[in-house]
Amino acid sequence: MRSTIGKTVAAFAVLASSVSFAHAGDVEVLHWWTSGGEAAALNVLKQDLEKQGIGWQDMPVAGGGGTQAMTVLRARVTSGNAPTAVQMLGFDITDWAKEGALANLNDVASAEGWDDVVPGALQKFSKYDGQWVAAPVNVHSTNWVWANKAILDELGIAQPTTWDELVAAMQAVKDAGKVAVAHGGQAWQDATVFDAVAMATGGPEFYQKAFIDLDPDTLGSDTMKEAFDRMAVIRSFVDDNFSGRDWNLASAMVINGEAAFQFMGDWAKGEFLNAGKAPGEDFLCFRFPGTQDQVTFNSDQFALFKQGDTPSDEQAALAKAIMSPTFQSAFNVVKGSVPARVDVPDADFDACGKQGMKDLAAASSSGNLFGSMAHGHANPASIKNAMYDVITAHFNGEYDSETAVSELVSAVELAQ
Ligand code: GAL
Repeated sequence: MRSTIGKTVAAFAVLASSVSFAHAGDVEVLHWWTSGGEAAALNVLKQDLEKQGIGWQDMPVAGGGGTQAMTVLRARVTSGNAPTAVQMLGFDITDWAKEGALANLNDVASAEGWDDVVPGALQKFSKYDGQWVAAPVNVHSTNWVWANKAILDELGIAQPTTWDELVAAMQAVKDAGKVAVAHGGQAWQDATVFDAVAMATGGPEFYQKAFIDLDPDTLGSDTMKEAFDRMAVIRSFVDDNFSGRDWNLASAMVINGEAAFQFMGDWAKGEFLNAGKAPGEDFLCFRFPGTQDQVTFNSDQFALFKQGDTPSDEQAALAKAIMSPTFQSAFNVVKGSVPARVDVPDADFDACGKQGMKDLAAASSSGNLFGSMAHGHANPASIKNAMYDVITAHFNGEYDSETAVSELVSAVELAQ
């Protein structure tokens, strides 16, 4: 008898652990916001939910850009143990929606009027087949430069506005014995820099044709070769220890005055703020030279995995909380991103945030807003990863620019 009960308890424990880590009234959230700045922003969300009596089961998967998080997610879903809510980017949302895995958020979306306030560029990913399947929490963009102001002042370097000025600025920093470019050698970081470099080299039409339309001629063009050549120039201004370095450690190099520039999305601002630094005083934020009028964006969204026919009360509450205008302001002020709805005032944002909001609106109305190749908003993961491989092999010196161009064409063709 005793052993039967023991077995039953043991079997139940195994079942419980393989089914879910969350208790009723909790949401289990899988995300990759593990750096100091990211965690500070996540806390804003946790606290907002706690006020509503919703507990938070944290499922962090470290790794910028979310590649590792998406691998863990696949394993969890395959074993029948999907988290309640998952941070996701662009085409990953579409891919999961296609599999029928995501909860339909139409009820909360229509009660809260999301259709009227979420920009079309985001709705493209928040909706699948006309149904809301994700709640966007922010809009980031990848074509930014983060600079240490004291170094620039000391060396008399003005904010570069063209590629040539940027090269001259990097050279001046190197000559002064400092690291010109703080970078982490991880595929998603290489690709993030390439987003900006490709846009600056070829302009918006080139970016659209190459990364969004996947036009073989554009992928294999001389302009693409020039973009790779520029990546090699940037590589020559990176220190020797860059391999595998996390992006936030690269940000720390700029924060600490070890390096002058980082080319990174505006989540980097979260690190500067978390370190007590102020824009305009300690650091500068500006668009990657040559992309002043363009925005390559990515939006973090929360997709809720289906638990039944309708979202659970906790899931609906999470979705509603994420989309509240006051939350969108409070969260994005800390995260470095800008709100995912058009009706949030910029009053609480610093100068970089205000510029981000202005740039986004301007790029959107002038047709200069593009989904980021590096962050899953230009193409599905299979193609994104094929591009990552080529960009990284070139950055590490395995391919020269000519080889990289032809490898890019064939990798993209194979991945389709
Ligand atoms: C991006 C994500 C950002 C930021 C960054 C680094 O993909 O959209 O929120 O977290 O990765 O982890």
